[in-house]
Amino acid sequence: MISDKIGRFIVTPTGFHRQGGALVCDEVPLRDITAAEGTPLYVYSANVIAERFRAIAEAFASYPHSLHYALKANSTLAIARLLRSLGAGADANSGGEIDVALRAGFIPAQIVFTGVGKTQAELAQAIDLGVMTINAESAGEIERIDALAIDRQVRARIALRVNPDIDARSHPHISTGLKTNKFGVPIDEVPDLCRRFANARGVEIVGLHIHLGSQITDLTPLRKASEAIVALSRELRDLGVFIDHVDLGGGLGISYDGSPVPSARDYADALLPAVRDSGLELILEPGRNIIGPAGVLLSRVIDVKPQGNGRQFVILDAGMTELIRPMLYNAFHRIEHVETHDRPAADCDIVGPLCESSDTLGKNRVLEQPEVGDLMAVMDTGAYGAVMASNYNRRLMPPEVLVDRGRWTVIRRRQTIDDLLALEA
Ligand SMILES: Cc1ncc(COP(=O)(O)O)c(C=O)c1O
Repeated sequence: MISDKIGRFIVTPTGFHRQGGALVCDEVPLRDITAAEGTPLYVYSANVIAERFRAIAEAFASYPHSLHYALKANSTLAIARLLRSLGAGADANSGGEIDVALRAGFIPAQIVFTGVGKTQAELAQAIDLGVMTINAESAGEIERIDALAIDRQVRARIALRVNPDIDARSHPHISTGLKTNKFGVPIDEVPDLCRRFANARGVEIVGLHIHLGSQITDLTPLRKASEAIVALSRELRDLGVFIDHVDLGGGLGISYDGSPVPSARDYADALLPAVRDSGLELILEPGRNIIGPAGVLLSRVIDVKPQGNGRQFVILDAGMTELIRPMLYNAFHRIEHVETHDRPAADCDIVGPLCESSDTLGKNRVLEQPEVGDLMAVMDTGAYGAVMASNYNRRLMPPEVLVDRGRWTVIRRRQTIDDLLALEA
């Protein structure tokens, strides 16, 4: 909140917006952060994270539920801690993410453990900790959990990851709910599997889990999946298998290009009708929807090169090593000047500095004529951005900054070449 010239309080927008042509994050000019920390650099807004988490929590408030933040979207410790303080549980996809969750202060009973290929060590870790549920992916995995738990004289709580053969209508690389995808147990095999493990000494089947995919903007597949999983829970009940929850995964998309997408309330309206009468607790694993719009990647123009056809290559100091989504999924991210200038429009291909032609962050963009040294913001990069960064070309992982109530903090420092080489003989 700021006050105007005559002292009235004005509610200012949160997150990333422009003040006098300059992009700010919750009142902090992004240029100031880069002046201190350099580029490339990720900046996140604590306000946006909180608003988006609360929007989902409020949309589902009428039904018993818990939101397990999908750490895979962004597991930087400070972000995980922030989500915990907001009331989230955690969805971990590896032993490493379980460790991060614990270090962020989540207790094992707040952690669900998912993953298509869990190692024996990871399963043992989850069983020893007594995580809330292990989302089991196959008959073989249930057998392995059973054996490990019997060794330890405990009974592990598992949910069966069900593959409902429903098309998420998202990008094929981030769709997981079709028969042809490697995830889960085919839905028609679930009753037999439950019967088989009903009296297992080491496992207790307490839930059903579905995750159809990510960046889902058509809610019909999610609605169908919730109907299918609730129908399946009834079928199981008739067989004498009583579960306590359904976990409908994550997947709710965001608008990368400004086009309308479903709100948290639309999401709840799509899922709750099927679940409401079941009496089962609902678990959700949102990732992208919370953290995606809460982050930007800041980068500087290091060269501008004519292509000879009226177009230009704008070469940034960030590329596929900092943000691989455009190259991996053909994903679109808006790219903007951090500060506007009064320059003519130019047709640009915005590329990274790596020795790969696929290292293109944005093709066919119209920008105010970029110049060497300009600061650019790649928008909506809070999810699957920094977590997917790599050291290819011996590039160093970028720092991450969290802006919270007008103050900014480095939550992960820039990697140094010594950090990188410390692992090598
Ligand atoms: C099992 C599981 N749960 C949750 C998520 C989070 O998905 P999203 O970030 O789209 O919400 C994923 C990501 O694909 C996932 O694989």
